Amino acid sequence: MINNQKDVLMDLVINNKHISIRAGGGRCLLDFLREDLSLMGTKEGCGEGECGSCTVLLDGKAVLSCMTPMERAIGREVTTIEGVGRPGNLHPLQQAMMEEGGVQCGFCTPGMIMSGVELLNRKSNPNRDEIVEGISGNLCRCTGYRKIITAIERAAEKMS
Ligand code: FES
Ligand code: FES
Repeated sequence: MINNQKDVLMDLVINNKHISIRAGGGRCLLDFLREDLSLMGTKEGCGEGECGSCTVLLDGKAVLSCMTPMERAIGREVTTIEGVGRPGNLHPLQQAMMEEGGVQCGFCTPGMIMSGVELLNRKSNPNRDEIVEGISGNLCRCTGYRKIITAIERAAEKMS
C-alpha cells in the first residue's frame, strides 16, 4: 500500500508480546497487523466496517481492525486469532468450531472466533440470544450461523 504518512513508533503488546517498531503511520490496524507483523490470520473482507472478518481484541474489546487507526493501538494490548490458540493448544471455541462444523468457508472464521472469545470472556454462560447478539457484527454469507452458535454454546459448556 502506498503510504505518505510519517513513521510512528508502534509500542504495544500483541498476543502477550511487547513490541516496539517504527512503521508507516496513517493506516488501519488491519494493514499494520498483516503488512508489518505478518499476522495473516486477521482477514480483510469488506474493508469498510460491514462484515466483521477483521475483528481483533483491543484491550479485550472486539474492534473492527479495518476501521481502527493503527495509532490507536499504541500503548495498548491487541489480541489476534494467532494469540487465541495454536495448533496443539487450541482455545475451547476453536476446538468446538472444528467439532461442530462451524468452520465453513474459513474466511469469516477468525473474526467470528474473536467475537465469540470476547463474549465468553465477559459472560461465562451466554444464552442463545446473547450469542446471536455477540456475533451480530460478523457476517456469514454461506451456510449460516447455526453451527457457529452451537460451537459457542459447546465452548461455554467446556469452559464452565
Ligand atoms: S473487513 Fe473490517 S468489517 Fe469487513
Ligand atoms: S462460514 Fe464463512 S461466510 Fe459463512
